[in-house]
Formats: sequence, C-alpha cells, structure tokens
Amino acid sequence: MKAEKIKWAILGPGKIAAKFATSLRHVEDAEIYAVASRSLERAEDFINKNGGKKAFGSYEEMLQDEAVDVVYIATPHVFHYEHTLLCLQNGKAILCEKPFAINRQQVEEMISTAREKQVFLMEAMWTPFLPHIQFVIDQINSGAYGKIKKLTADFGFNAPYNESGRLFLKSLGGGSLLDIGIYPVFLALHSLGLPEKIQAKAQLGKTEVDEICDVVFSYSNGVTAELHSTIIKKTPTVAEFELEKANIRISSRWHEPATVTIATPGETTTKTFDVASFGYEYEARHVQEMLRKGRTESDVMSFEKSLQLISVLDEIRKEIRLEY
Ligand SMILES: NC(=O)c1ccc[n+]([C@@H]2O[C@H](COP(=O)([O-])OP(=O)(O)OC[C@H]3O[C@@H](n4cnc5c(N)ncnc54)[C@H](OP(=O)(O)O)[C@@H]3O)[C@@H](O)[C@H]2O)c1
Repeated sequence: MKAEKIKWAILGPGKIAAKFATSLRHVEDAEIYAVASRSLERAEDFINKNGGKKAFGSYEEMLQDEAVDVVYIATPHVFHYEHTLLCLQNGKAILCEKPFAINRQQVEEMISTAREKQVFLMEAMWTPFLPHIQFVIDQINSGAYGKIKKLTADFGFNAPYNESGRLFLKSLGGGSLLDIGIYPVFLALHSLGLPEKIQAKAQLGKTEVDEICDVVFSYSNGVTAELHSTIIKKTPTVAEFELEKANIRISSRWHEPATVTIATPGETTTKTFDVASFGYEYEARHVQEMLRKGRTESDVMSFEKSLQLISVLDEIRKEIRLEY
C-alpha cells in the first residue's frame, strides 16, 4: 500500500456514516475521498456537511474509481451482503457495518469471496478496539479479581415508531437484536467465549420484529450472561461483570466510549478515557494498519469472530422465531 493518505469511500451516507466521517477526521493518515448515494444530491449534501472530495449518484460508479483504497459500507443490514460482494467484485477493501449480514450463510459467502479475491474485509464491530473495553478485558484477564461469575449488559432506547423505518421494517432487517442486541451478545462472546446453552425470548411488535429481546447464556462452569435489548424503551445501557473479588461496571452507554468503575470490598476506583471523537477512529486506525501491512483479514475482528457472532445471532433468532 502506498505511503500517502488512505482514501476512504463511503457507501450509503446515512446517520452512522456521518458519525464515522467525523471520527475519520481524527485518523492521521486517512482521507474521506468519495461518497456514494443512490442520489447524487444526497452524496453532495453529505460531502458539504461531513467532508469528502468526489460525490457519486450510484454505488457501482464509485467502485470504478481506481483511487479508492477502502470502502465503508453503511447501508441497512439486509444490504451488507449484496454491497460487500459488489465491492469485492471491484477489488475494493471493505469495512462493513454490523451486523455483517443477515445470517451465517451470507457471512460465509462474503468471507469465502474475500479470501478468493485476496481482498481485505472486516465487520465494523468497533467494541474490541475501544480503549475502555480493552481496559476491562485486560483487568479480567489479569486474574487480579478472580473469575467472572456473571455478566449483565443491556442496550435500549425508545425509537420513534415508524413502520417504514429501518428499525421497525422487517424487510430492512428491523428489530432490536441485530441492531443493538448484537453489542451485549458480542461482549459476552468476547469476554466469556461461546456458551454451552442459549435461551432467548422476545416481544415481537406489529411489524413482526423483536421490539424487546432477552437472552441468557449459560456456561458449563455455572457462569451466566444476561443480555437485554429493546427499541421501545430507554434502559440503563450499562454492562457489569461480577467477579469473585470485584465488580467491574462500564457506565452508560457502555458500548461507546465510557468510564469504568472497579469496586472491591475495600475500594472503589473509576477510570476515565480521553477520546477525541465518537470512538470509530480506533477501528478505522486498525483497518489502515491492516491495509498497510497487506493483510486481508483483521487479527482482532477476525472472520472466526464474525462467524461466531452471526451463528449465535442465528440461534437466538431461531429461538424467538424471527425469520427475515
Ligand atoms: N457502529 C455503530 O455504532 C452503528 C450505529 C448505527 C448504525 N449502525 C449500522 O449501520 C447501518 C446503517 O444504519 P444507519 O442508522 O446509518 O441507517 P440510515 O441512516 O437509514 O442510513 C442508511 C443508508 O443506506 C442507504 N440505503 C441504501 N438502500 C437503502 C434502502 N433500501 N433503504 C434505506 N436506506 C438505504 C441510504 O443512503 P442512500 O439512499 O443515500 O444511498 C441511507 O442513507 C446499519 O446496518 C446499522 O446496524 C452502526
């Protein structure tokens, strides 16, 4: 990879793309180069507000631009598969928003195509790159506080009801699990590994998507993870690990840059973290490092991790009878 700035292209300039672009401005050797929308006007408007050089009114057209180094896919879940394959056909490296796709079969095909084409592909699951999450994992792994006994993590907000919006519309992959429940599920997998047993229940709404989803992971050593997500109620959005000798609590909203409190019987300490932007800069820096090293797979958010995550999400959906 060349020495100059890495040229990013944004495919699907919606809400998260704007935040990602803000974070990208904090990445030293990154450049927001191109933006593609299904409408040229929207691409131009995005560039005016968030930066970027070249606006395209079609995704396909942008992928013909030879200067593009890496594409950030930020379309609704159900299009991640199609847009990843489109980028791969054009030989473009990809950072694709979570969930990687709608089911394991799609993720497998995305991975096998990336391997075949020898092109970099990573799911934009930003959690493992965040300093406060890395701190928590280091504290747990240090063994200083004993073993984990229990994890509880929730993520809930009260989304304005919109039958045709991405959060409620089934054909766009609506529901809480794939949108935000994915974070508590990932945290459990990241800290505890694959569970022995998964139990789940959900409340499906008028549009037949899970408005509320409760998941319990059980591990052979008696450890449990209680995970909750909802798009119809604001919930604390806190993650707490109960260990043998301490409680480690990540404050609200724990999935984005937040503070960490460690409470032992004798002492309580809180650690804050300096973060320059929304926190997407950490995953973006990692992608750049991988590209500069000529890698085609992340050594942090690996294919194995994405496959594990989508398999568990599939299993939960089977349990709550939610089919897309
Ligand atoms: N990592 C995070 O923290 C985070 C946070 C929020 C969302 N996300 C993920 O990012 C993805 C997008 O979420 P968002 O909230 O940014 O969505 P959004 O605001 O609705 O933006 C999605 C964009 O996709 C494009 N698009 C293409 N086909 C579409 C269709 N048929 N219907 C609607 N939009 C379509 C649209 O751009 P054009 O029509 O202009 O091309 C739209 O602006 C989701 O998969 C979500 O899980 C991640």
